[in-house]
This record gives sequence, C-alpha cells and structure tokens, in this order.
Amino acid sequence: MTRPAVLVARAVFPEVIERLAAHCEVDVNREDRIFTRPELIARLAGKAGAFITGSERIDAELLDANPQLRAVCNMAVGYNNIDVDACTARGVLASNTPDVLTETTADFGFALMMATARRIAESEHYLRRGEWTKWRYDMFAGTDVHGATLGVLGMGRIGQGVARRGALGFGMKVLYANRSRLPADVEATLGAKWVDKATLLRESDHVVVVTPYTPQTHHLVDAAALALMKPTATLTNIARGGVVDDAALAAALKAGRIAAAGLDVFEGEPSVHPALLEVPNVVLTPHIASASVPTRLAMASLAADNLLAALGLGPAAGQPPTPLNPQVLARQG
Ligand code: GLV
Repeated sequence: MTRPAVLVARAVFPEVIERLAAHCEVDVNREDRIFTRPELIARLAGKAGAFITGSERIDAELLDANPQLRAVCNMAVGYNNIDVDACTARGVLASNTPDVLTETTADFGFALMMATARRIAESEHYLRRGEWTKWRYDMFAGTDVHGATLGVLGMGRIGQGVARRGALGFGMKVLYANRSRLPADVEATLGAKWVDKATLLRESDHVVVVTPYTPQTHHLVDAAALALMKPTATLTNIARGGVVDDAALAAALKAGRIAAAGLDVFEGEPSVHPALLEVPNVVLTPHIASASVPTRLAMASLAADNLLAALGLGPAAGQPPTPLNPQVLARQG
C-alpha cells in the first residue's frame, strides 16, 4: 500500500512528526516561516492531509486547488481559520483540539485577569526602569478580584473553567452571557447567573471574553459595549482578535473609561494596534493562553491522531477523535 503524503504546515514537536512518519510521507515546514497563500497551496500539491495551525487559512479556493486533500487538522480549539462548510461540501474532514487545553487556558485567562486587576505588568516595568525609590500609599493600587463580580462573555468549556476558578477559588459572583443557558446543576455549582450582554457589561468588575470568533461575534466588545462598563472594571480577552475592537479599547483605556485590560489575542496579530502599545494600563501577551508544555504536546498529539485516523491509519483508523464535520465520515463509510 502506498503511504499517503501529509504536510505539517508549521514546526511542531519532533515526537509528533515521528508518529506521523510511521504511517505517512511527511513534509514538514521545519523553517517555520509562515507560508504565503500561494506557497501553502503549492506545498499541499499531492498531499492527502494537512496538520495546520491558526496561521493557515483553509477555504474553498485552497481546497479546489487541491482536490486530493482528505483531511485538515487544526492544532487549536478555535477554527475560524477553516471554512468548515467548504470542507464538508468537498468531503474533507476538518478537526480541532477541544478539551485538552480547557484547564490550561482557563488558568491563563484567570492569571491575565488578575495581572490586569492588580497591575502586575505595569508595576514590574516600573521596577525594571529603576523608578522604585520609595513606598507610597497608592502605588499601583488596583482592583480586588476576590469577592468581585466576574462577567464571562461566552460560557463554553473554557468560560466555565474561568467561572469555576472565580466562584470556587475567589468567592466571586459570576454573571455570564451566552447564546444558550447552562444546565441548572452547572449554574448552581458555579452560582452563575445568565444575563444579557448589556447587564453583564454594566454589572461586572472583571469581564473575561471567551467566545469563538464568528461573523456574529465580530466586535462584540466595541465602543458602545465599553461605554457600558464601570470605570473601575477590567476587560480580559483570551478569545480571538476581532471579538474586541482594539482601536476602541485603546481609546477607552487612554481616556480612563475602564480601568485596565489584559489581551492575549489581537486583531491582525502578530501585529498589535500601535495605540495599545502606548497605554500603560494594558497587559499584553503573545497568544499563549494554551502554552504549557504538556498542553501544547497534547494539542499536537490530538491533531496528529485526527489526521492519521481521518486517513484510515493508526489505531483509531476511520474514527478521528474530535472531528468538526463528522458527517463527512458517515458519507465515506
Ligand atoms: C488557540 O487560540 C486555540 O484556539 O487553541
């Protein structure tokens, strides 16, 4: 039997490449320079599957240029880089990496919210600049996290993880806005109240954004939304750039309309809106919420499991663990 060829579109753990190489001919982007679109399309020629990350966009044009492709497996839970309908229409299996990153990402969201509320980055920069010459009663005084009201925008698995940390670890009151309401027992465990977005923005001390990025969530937090927030409130975005209007946020931070923000994701990243780099009351991190070594390894392994299984290889042949369009498998079967 000829071994299928696959593209690993970015550098990844060697052990994951080895696992793929046990079953496939593997073409790895070892240099890890992000392919331009024509390069990606050309490099996919003859490939049955692709191991991709958020930097590779999969759409109808790319799929039509590579009709031999059977699987595109994302090493990320978010999949706004994949046109799943276009994949389904062409019988291409698409997958993401849910669950394995939930707790790690919730840890980071909570840490970023705390760093924002307690001005940790801003004060560290001050110390490193050698400006710390004496104690002062109001030096870097921030806002409390314990006992405050946490507003979770988007109450999926990661949102619930953030809410659990706040409710059970820090005695926070939890509000959440989500398309659907949580089951009553989950609401009861978290002491969480389902509210509309405006109520959440008006009443929360710390708003954490954890929605997927879709046309419906584009600029979910815009100037009008920011205007509803308390002037003492913080906003943390661990969802995707584009869910928050970064220009409007920078203006709100500069004008003191909200107290501070923590951002792990940006519109047009890795570029960061220049106005955000100029305001001191924002903590900026380079899209690392899922970046613990065990979790990144688990994500890469899950993406590889999906790829092998979708191509009918390995121990789970034909049964990718986390497909986005399982109907493709039913059709193939
Ligand atoms: C990271 O942003 C992910 O979607 O996994």
